[in-house]
Amino acid sequence: MNFNIDFDNIDITEAEPVQEPERQYYFIAKARKYVKKIEEEIGRSLTFCVTTFGCQMNARDSEKLTGILEQIGYVEEPEEEKADLVIYNTCTVRENANQRVYGRLGQLNRAKKKNPHMMIGLCGCMMQEPEVVEKLKKSYRFIDLVFGTHNIFKFAELLVTRMESERMVIDIWKDTDKIVEDLPSERKYSFKSGVNIMFGCNNFCSYCIVPYVRGRERSRNPRDIIREIEHLVADGVVEVMLLGQNVNSYGKSLDEPMSFAQLLREIEKIEGLERIRFMTSHPKDLSDELIEVMGESKKICKHLHLPVQAGSNRILEKMNRRYTKEHYLELVDKIRKAVPDISLTTDIIVGFPGETEEDFQETLDVVRKVRYDSAFTFIYSKRTGTPAAVMEQQISEEVVKDRFDRLLKEVHTISEEVCGVYTDTIQNVLVESINDHDASLVTGRMSNNLLVHFPGDKTLIGKLVDVKLHTCKGFYYLGEMV
Ligand code: SAH
Ligand code: SF4
Ligand code: F3S
Repeated sequence: MNFNIDFDNIDITEAEPVQEPERQYYFIAKARKYVKKIEEEIGRSLTFCVTTFGCQMNARDSEKLTGILEQIGYVEEPEEEKADLVIYNTCTVRENANQRVYGRLGQLNRAKKKNPHMMIGLCGCMMQEPEVVEKLKKSYRFIDLVFGTHNIFKFAELLVTRMESERMVIDIWKDTDKIVEDLPSERKYSFKSGVNIMFGCNNFCSYCIVPYVRGRERSRNPRDIIREIEHLVADGVVEVMLLGQNVNSYGKSLDEPMSFAQLLREIEKIEGLERIRFMTSHPKDLSDELIEVMGESKKICKHLHLPVQAGSNRILEKMNRRYTKEHYLELVDKIRKAVPDISLTTDIIVGFPGETEEDFQETLDVVRKVRYDSAFTFIYSKRTGTPAAVMEQQISEEVVKDRFDRLLKEVHTISEEVCGVYTDTIQNVLVESINDHDASLVTGRMSNNLLVHFPGDKTLIGKLVDVKLHTCKGFYYLGEMV
């Protein structure tokens, strides 16, 4: 990314500035000097690898970490165990996400013993849990740097602290009301980008740890969002994904409140931007105004991810989702009327405490009625500190597994039927990459989020082209450019 700060011209003999982001620019400049010095000593570049767990929020945060590291002078190394600086950006939404991190740390420790320059940093949602940090302090002393979700903007400063101190640096904030703008970031794709529009979550769904680890809901100023997208577009981006845990409540916390639908109207006006996506939408806050904007828009993609979580009203209430099955189905009807060819996807949890077979049948009923294009299905995972963790009647593994398998089967059968309906139509496709298995093909994404593979070469990457869809292979198409 073009980042117009000349870090070599920042005077690091002066005291560090108090203001952000200038303070971080100062620490980037300082870290740059340290890195250069080591590079001269060892006669090669220092390398980094950022590994991301979890959701798109984390993916976007990792791009920010990468941007900072590149300004510092580190060079990306795809293989973790060969890198001089490894960062794990962690997720804790389900227990298995945590287990994966601990498992991989053991391996990294072995790599570190062979490379005297290697540093290991941990950040992200897992670090916001005090018991995790305690465990790291006690049993994972080889880790160099630990920070959380609220102070990720301080990455350069924390790295300098570690470079100057030789000890484990830990800095975790409980919460924040701060949003620091204008730090570097490096996109994974040249032609599309995630854009945070808000941080945190106020919903406290009873099973969910996100509000505890990401803090209270804070919306970014619309002017900052528009400015960022304008810069991205000038840099070659044609598609943005607006990110928030509940985008439908965007703007409520601003000094001059603004709705998500209004924000979309403003973003639509940005010349050169071709596609707008967003996630995630909470059904309780999905407004008629938003449905109207989606119906009118030329740029908003024909895809809505609308997590239902469960079909039984009794369970929805215990989950604190604040809508009913009937309300959800009504919303789906309204959306389909306004945007007839929209693709709907969802998240579903099986085995929430107290879920009976009848409750589960209600979930299957929603799946059959809505006929989702696809669904992410999760086995309920108990998160310490959430209200659901202490609810009675936690469901046995055997029962949950059986329900999970039945749900998955239903979801698959339906999505194969639903996805096939576009055979023989011509669709506008954003070409994303060369096909993984066949280099004579490229892979592109339709407005409705389905993938299509067709003959082409790398000159097409980042371009929007029309493709005739010949055959549907379940979750993707084979086609031909027209
Ligand atoms: N803010 C988004 C979801 C973020 S977490 C929303 O409200 O839709 C992504 C998904 O993980 C959730 O939709 C939910 O289906 C799942 N999830 C969250 N906590 C979970 C838990 N404790 N066990 C299993 N799945 C969970
Ligand atoms: Fe978690 Fe609910 Fe917030 Fe989504 S809306 S992040 S599921 S608490
Ligand atoms: Fe995981 Fe944090 Fe996202 S817990 S799902 S990475 S907000």
